[in-house]
Amino acid sequence: MEVEKSGFLSEYSAASRFYILIVAIGGAITAYYSVLDFKGVFWFELVVWLGFFILSECWPVTLITEDQITISFVLHISAVVIIGVPAAVLLAGISSLLVELFSRKPIVKTVFNCSQYMISVFATGFVYYQLLGLGPDVYFNMHLDLLAFAASAAAYFIVNTFMVTIVVSLTQRLHILDVIAEDLPMIVFYFGATVCLGVPLVLIYRMSPPATILLTLPLVLAHYSFRQYLLIRIESRETIELLADMIDQRDTYTARHSSRVAHYALEVSKRMHLTVKEMNDIYYAARVHDLGKIGIPDAVLQKPDRLTQQELSVMQRHAELGYNVLSRIRLYARSARYVYSHHERPDGCGYPRGLRESEIPKGSQIIAVCDAYDAMTSDRPYRKALSREKAIAELQKHSNTQFFQEVVTVLLEVLRDEKSPETSSWPEYYQYD
Ligand SMILES: [Fe+2]
Repeated sequence: MEVEKSGFLSEYSAASRFYILIVAIGGAITAYYSVLDFKGVFWFELVVWLGFFILSECWPVTLITEDQITISFVLHISAVVIIGVPAAVLLAGISSLLVELFSRKPIVKTVFNCSQYMISVFATGFVYYQLLGLGPDVYFNMHLDLLAFAASAAAYFIVNTFMVTIVVSLTQRLHILDVIAEDLPMIVFYFGATVCLGVPLVLIYRMSPPATILLTLPLVLAHYSFRQYLLIRIESRETIELLADMIDQRDTYTARHSSRVAHYALEVSKRMHLTVKEMNDIYYAARVHDLGKIGIPDAVLQKPDRLTQQELSVMQRHAELGYNVLSRIRLYARSARYVYSHHERPDGCGYPRGLRESEIPKGSQIIAVCDAYDAMTSDRPYRKALSREKAIAELQKHSNTQFFQEVVTVLLEVLRDEKSPETSSWPEYYQYD
């Protein structure tokens, strides 16, 4: 696993920079002692392993919190057993450096990833050989060494995951447990499913190095399947969002309404200290909150004049229609309830159910306020946009009746601190259940 946050050092907080510096120093010390301890490995073997490492890092999969996962950890752990800790540490650092430089990644990210890989490999080797109680030339023995191999794989997983999680937590200002909770199920599944291939890889390599090519296919297949699975999830989400944008265009003549609402909903959610999972659900609900308008006739949806009571009833069905569609899609199962209640009001005069106060889910409260603000500040065919000041005055005037006081207060903080409207984005990530 490696961090994928891009940018310059100045974009990182002081705490992030300090942490990255500590990891970089740790990486440098690990590299130094690995050079001192390096001995007894054929150059040809080193070149082959370097090639394996580089190839394994070329097709990463991006996870929920923007960090990436590659198949390289299987090779790192296997290399510790086969060619020893110093060589494995140095090759992990060199391969990471070459891949990152070739991909023109920012220097901060390159230094961090090289360092954390070397430290992870060193921790793996330390655990393996401590448990084994033998030197690095030990022959991999199925009966005795399996326990040491499993423990060293666990050490790699823990050290690597924590180092990357901490930097994600610091750079995205999220609680570390939140970050772990979001990524952990997917990482454990992927790691557990693929690391088992390390054992046959070591055994086959000891018998006949060229025969390890036989394991290439299952390794590539495992990684490819995982990658495709995540890509399909992304494409499914993008398809629904594209549909929501088309409905926005049909309704408001701009495909950006839902994107802006999602942006504000996310910013508000962050300041309300919700969990990553809640932020995730709210963001994606906001992104498609008016999807149900797909079932509203043009004569009602695009009517420039005031709607009749009957037309209003037809229009109000969009919240329930959206819920009916989204609740059937696994990716939106949790977000659907926020869509259902995004027109409810604290005074109970909203629709479709006339809920009151705490009966209304927090996500719906947030979307309702952000939706109203963006609607007021956008041009419509039948009226000009209100100024930001007038829209804010409206939100304040109707706090506690139409809008939720707490959300209005937080949205005003977001607007006050906004450098330019709609600049942040939520990473393209996935829900895990
Ligand atoms: Fe709506």
